[in-house]
Amino acid sequence: MTEHTVRILSPDEHPSASALFWDSLHLPPPSDEDWARAAAMQQPGRTLGVFDPALIGTARSFDGELTVPGGRRVPLAAVTGVGVRADRTRRGALTAMMRFQLTDLAGRGVQIAGLYASEGGIYGRFGYGVGTVSKSCAVDRHRARLRPEVPSGGDVELLPVQRARDQLAEAYASLPHTRPGMMTRPPYWWAGFPGSMHRHAGPMTAALHHGEHGVDGFAVYFVDHESGGDAVLHVTSLHAAHGRAFAGLWRFLLTVDLVDRIKAGMRPYDEPVELLFEDPRCCRITGVEDGLWLRLVDVPAALAARRYYGGPAESVVIEVTDPLLDNNSGRYRVSADGAEPTGEPAQLRLDVATLSMLYLGTWRASRLAGVGRIEVLDPGTPTTADRLFGTRLAAWCGTFF
Ligand SMILES: CC(C)(COP(=O)(O)OP(=O)(O)OC[C@H]1O[C@@H](n2cnc3c(N)ncnc32)[C@H](O)[C@@H]1OP(=O)(O)O)[C@@H](O)C(=O)NCCC(=O)NCCS
Repeated sequence: MTEHTVRILSPDEHPSASALFWDSLHLPPPSDEDWARAAAMQQPGRTLGVFDPALIGTARSFDGELTVPGGRRVPLAAVTGVGVRADRTRRGALTAMMRFQLTDLAGRGVQIAGLYASEGGIYGRFGYGVGTVSKSCAVDRHRARLRPEVPSGGDVELLPVQRARDQLAEAYASLPHTRPGMMTRPPYWWAGFPGSMHRHAGPMTAALHHGEHGVDGFAVYFVDHESGGDAVLHVTSLHAAHGRAFAGLWRFLLTVDLVDRIKAGMRPYDEPVELLFEDPRCCRITGVEDGLWLRLVDVPAALAARRYYGGPAESVVIEVTDPLLDNNSGRYRVSADGAEPTGEPAQLRLDVATLSMLYLGTWRASRLAGVGRIEVLDPGTPTTADRLFGTRLAAWCGTFF
């Protein structure tokens, strides 16, 4: 292993770190506009560099809040901008940064870290697990007829996305965070909007849905052509305060002319888009993918913050191991009354990455035990844990970073 030094970069070092990150993703060199955006996305004190002694890797994070089961919002660090120079990979540079970052975040009072992984094999070793799962769907616009009972009402206003940023930010902040896994979008996130990853020829449009009490939902989309010539409307974001706004936005999207298909990615796993249509098969589920990866940074605080379900007499004692953040290792008693450290014997044993998968209710304890991610010390307790950790609505983040 190479000797690495990790430290927080000063603002004048951010451009080289951003360039390194872009290069690691094989993206074309940043434009002037990209540079300005990249600068505004950096939360001071949160961009790391790893040196050998030259700068060979970087990672950053920004603060937000994550909605947890029961509706509380807890301090979240959104981890992003991770890259190591291609000629210096597999020598421990990322490992050094992850160790530094997790210790730093724990010291800052962050309870949970989250990220979107470029590859599934990278982050499990650092205690991250798949926290939300989302689906992608494609609607054949020529076949799609809304069922007559689908709610109607409200009006849609279109704006070029660059002019809509403030209104979208205001609308997003006012929408209820109905699902566990949703996060706040701080200015460091909006500085990157609409995102340099979405490179396409056509304009990007914001559709604001106005309901009885003002904006109650929005969609962001662009249209491009697939190699076969079909015009595809890509929905990059769709948020609605309630079913009427959700239906209203889809009703509008179906009316956009010169479109053959509507594709929506990163949708909640249990969102019933296909049930809007007379023929549900005009909406194909084209993929199911991991969404937000989570890492509990402060296990006692994060466990105490969420709500548990199950019956009043039900409880389970879990033993958590965390090789990177020692304070997290220990036993916790979880019941409908909450979760707290305990000296009682463990019934289920799991590592912090598995706990992070259980946390938002995306995975069931019995399933995780079945694939060897949870060690069962007391038979019968996985199904109790299923009821305690399970949630009514599927967890979903809906904010890419
Ligand atoms: C992913 C990346 C940051 C890893 O950096 P790195 O410095 O090579 O990682 P490390 O040397 O610290 O590797 C730590 C461990 O993870 C493994 N690992 C690293 N990258 C991996 C990958 N892409 N897939 C599977 N395992 C990986 C290593 O083999 C090593 O395993 P070990 O501890 O058993 O030896 C780097 O390859 C990179 O920049 N990739 C391109 C950009 C990218 O994908 N960034 C992440 C955006 S989310």
